[in-house]
Amino acid sequence: MLAGKHVVCGVCGGIAAYKAAALVSALARKGCHVHVVMTRAATEFVAPLTFRSLSGNPVCIEMFAEPKIWKVEHVGLAEQADLTVVAPATANVLAKMATGLADDFLSTLLLAVRCPVFVAPAMNEAMFCHEATQHNLEVLRGRGVRIIGPAAGMQACGTSGVGRMSEPGEIVAALEVFLTQQGRWRGRKVLVTAGGTREPLDPVRYIGNAGSGKMGHALAEVFQESGAEVVLVTAAEREAPGGVKCVRVTTAEQMRSAVLADFADADVVVKTAAVADYRPVQAAEQKIKKTGGQEDDRLRVELVPNPDILAELGRMKEKQFLVGFAAETHDVLAHAEEKLRRKNVDMLVVNDVTQEGAGFGVDTNIVTVLCRDGSREDWPLMSKKELAERLAEVVLERLQSD
Ligand code: PMT
Repeated sequence: MLAGKHVVCGVCGGIAAYKAAALVSALARKGCHVHVVMTRAATEFVAPLTFRSLSGNPVCIEMFAEPKIWKVEHVGLAEQADLTVVAPATANVLAKMATGLADDFLSTLLLAVRCPVFVAPAMNEAMFCHEATQHNLEVLRGRGVRIIGPAAGMQACGTSGVGRMSEPGEIVAALEVFLTQQGRWRGRKVLVTAGGTREPLDPVRYIGNAGSGKMGHALAEVFQESGAEVVLVTAAEREAPGGVKCVRVTTAEQMRSAVLADFADADVVVKTAAVADYRPVQAAEQKIKKTGGQEDDRLRVELVPNPDILAELGRMKEKQFLVGFAAETHDVLAHAEEKLRRKNVDMLVVNDVTQEGAGFGVDTNIVTVLCRDGSREDWPLMSKKELAERLAEVVLERLQSD
């Protein structure tokens, strides 16, 4: 799959730069046209000649060096690239990418590329776990940059932890998986809902839940990467993956309108959103004030049921393949089976949100997938991105077998 592809390899200044030589060599052996771009710091670790010899192409480092090709070099390379991989990606270069800083050849090129971008972070564990780095990775992920690794293990500084660059073979495998997946969903429209709805009590308060949108946004990203036209209706305040149509909503009623607007020509609907079952009869126009501050100063709020969007889709559906999610705390399977039937969905993904690593707000999930034909699969703890990839595969198999 990689043969003939133009791959730009960005190499940053870290001890893992030596592994980039193996990566460039592996890509060249796969038949890629590899173009290496190094930061000045990277040249302190590995000589550019190594990369020139392994790739068979000139290595770019300096912005204002004598051009090695006739076009404005960073733009020329950016236009040519089918894939860009930054490995190792240091905290510094990730920060530049997240903020759009362009002060050397590599960072300028990374602003100009339009092809899929992969980064393989490599740094000391403390730097990797730092809030700033995690925020930058989140921003990049939101823009559609694919993060490979990092792995855990012994680090150059003598400590052990997360931050080792993924092995070159794993990076090549990730690129191959990406190319295999790309296009599998082309021509299909997928509607995904995400986050937790908020039902206002007054201008400053709401009834809500802990839905962060991580699960739904991961699914939107995976379907988009696989070539589907994706509409993401989200109540979460997180960045939407690049390339999806994102409709932002707050309440269940807004979510219902947005979903119905895009339902008719959708092929698949995946409802990960945690929709509030009830809302206050009426939101107060002004902030509700305490009346006396006494112990018996109770506030009574009358709630009315919200529309059940998924059940409504279940009644309306024609060609659409409906996937519901269910968050349960007890009698998990019994409740899930009841929802599968009552809401008339094709597949129901249930998570026991009392389990560590499952459900709201976390980056991982543990689910059981139930289908209308009675089949059932238990999936172990995995990242929400992995879960999304697996779910997309399973749904595609079902669509293709119909
Ligand atoms: O967003 P994260 O922080 O990543 O968390 C992910 C998650 C825990 C929210 C997700 O994995 C999940 O379980 N989503 C479903 C949560 C939920 O509301 O479950 P439920 O059992 O109440 O609803 C069942 C299904 O009906 C869901 O698909 C829901 O979107 C839908 N529903 C529910 C109520 C309603 N009024 N309208 C609906 O469409």
